Amino acid sequence: MQLRVVSDQPWDVPADLLAIPFVGEPPLDGLLAPLDQRAGGELRTLAAFGELKVERYAAALLAGGECRATRLLAISAGTPESLTRQVVVRIGSAIVRRLADRKVRTLAIWLGDLGERVDGGVEAVAELLARGVVEGEFDPAALYRHSDASEPDRLVELILVAPGANVTALARAAERGIVVGEGSSMARSLANRAANDVTPEVLAQEARAIAERHGLAIDVIGPEKAAELGMGMFLAVGQGSDNPPRMIVLRSGEAGATDAAGRRLALVGKGVCFDSGGISIKPADRMEEMKMDKTGACTVIAAIATVARLAPGTPLMAIAPAVENMPGPHSARPGDVVKAMNGKTVDIINTDAEGRLILGDAMVYAESLGATHLVDVATLTGAVARALGDQMTGAFGTPQSWYDSMVAAGERAGERYWQLPMIEEYRKELDSWYADFTNTGPADGGLIRSALFLREFTTVPWIHLDIAGTAYFRKKTPYAPTGATGVALATLVELALAGAKP
Ligand code: BES
Ligand code: MN
Ligand code: ZN
Repeated sequence: MQLRVVSDQPWDVPADLLAIPFVGEPPLDGLLAPLDQRAGGELRTLAAFGELKVERYAAALLAGGECRATRLLAISAGTPESLTRQVVVRIGSAIVRRLADRKVRTLAIWLGDLGERVDGGVEAVAELLARGVVEGEFDPAALYRHSDASEPDRLVELILVAPGANVTALARAAERGIVVGEGSSMARSLANRAANDVTPEVLAQEARAIAERHGLAIDVIGPEKAAELGMGMFLAVGQGSDNPPRMIVLRSGEAGATDAAGRRLALVGKGVCFDSGGISIKPADRMEEMKMDKTGACTVIAAIATVARLAPGTPLMAIAPAVENMPGPHSARPGDVVKAMNGKTVDIINTDAEGRLILGDAMVYAESLGATHLVDVATLTGAVARALGDQMTGAFGTPQSWYDSMVAAGERAGERYWQLPMIEEYRKELDSWYADFTNTGPADGGLIRSALFLREFTTVPWIHLDIAGTAYFRKKTPYAPTGATGVALATLVELALAGAKP
């Protein structure tokens, strides 16, 4: 997709379609008046008819009239009070999804007054809209579905229309948005793949190809080396499957270097290619969704690749412990006691609480490689989905200043996080009869305890993002199809770029 930014008036821009996002009531006497006049008053007619609603993502298609664009699409961005950066991204996606299968090869989007309504101004709007357009083009069906039809018409050109703006600055911002959107698509297309297709070794192969393409160093640790390193938790989860575990380690920047923020940041992502629960087997209902349990891994792999495109050489690590959690004669049993890489012993009372086991060893390993700051991303608990649903990621972190810098990155990225407390009193519910602690406890407070467990494997500033609710959609929305959402990718990229050389 080509990108162009023009400072012409919207009615002067030739395109197959001009999209017109509006905030609040359609400003027919204001911003939209000159456009409506050229459209023969059709916007006003549609508004009177009830077709132009203040309902976010509701869109009306009309003929371009005397505008140079053949068609117009007026789309509501909702009320002014509720307009956020996230909404701007999603407007970009909703425009593209509304036009799916239509013959739109050149799409123009008028920025209108959005720049006055979000912080960061028109540049931020250009970046977020362009990212949204790329994300809106993501099509999960393209992965496996058999199709006789010829390739659907893809967008050839995106034209951002910003009268009077600095087109060079806006184009730079929009290009950045496109790269982040492509990173999101990379994470989503990996995450959506089936477990018979993406085993831990296949995920490692994909990571190798990505490393090659983006100039990243890669190291893939198999069971022998993991045993030497003492990764007893990681191995215990992986041992039940014929598909051996892989600890995928990607690095950018000079060995031992810190970034411009004085950090050596490691992103750690849960890579359970399939989570049957193991011997503590899950019920059949929705078990198929557990192929998505590798989404954290896909997200950190795509994040480091995206950072490598935007700021090559930034010191950064991405570590993805990849396993298949399966029942079988070689599986870990409830009650097995294993030793983690940091020497702590764990009584595995529930083999379905496997994510924390592989993440614990991965985080200890990250610190052994010199990580000074950690963020882990994981589809860790059903409880977070029950608490927060699919729109808000649950997050923990310590110290608070490190947590706050993640939230700031999330705000820049247009992503939402809800902080959950690490309640010290609940730690004792991990006490074991036999080992230093168990991997689960009573159901109540389980979400908090999952973080308390992970904390045992960190000694540096650390953040835990539980994306079990937000990693994939079960229902499509105007801005996204079902399946992987790419959540947290943009936040991680923003967080890492805070350490890029200015
Ligand atoms: N992968 C699951 C969590 C999950 C559930 C992700 C639903 C996405 C959707 C995780 O490994 C798991 O099984 N968690 C258990 C933990 C429990 C055994 C303490 C859970 O949430 O039930
Ligand atoms: Mn599980
Ligand atoms: Zn899991």
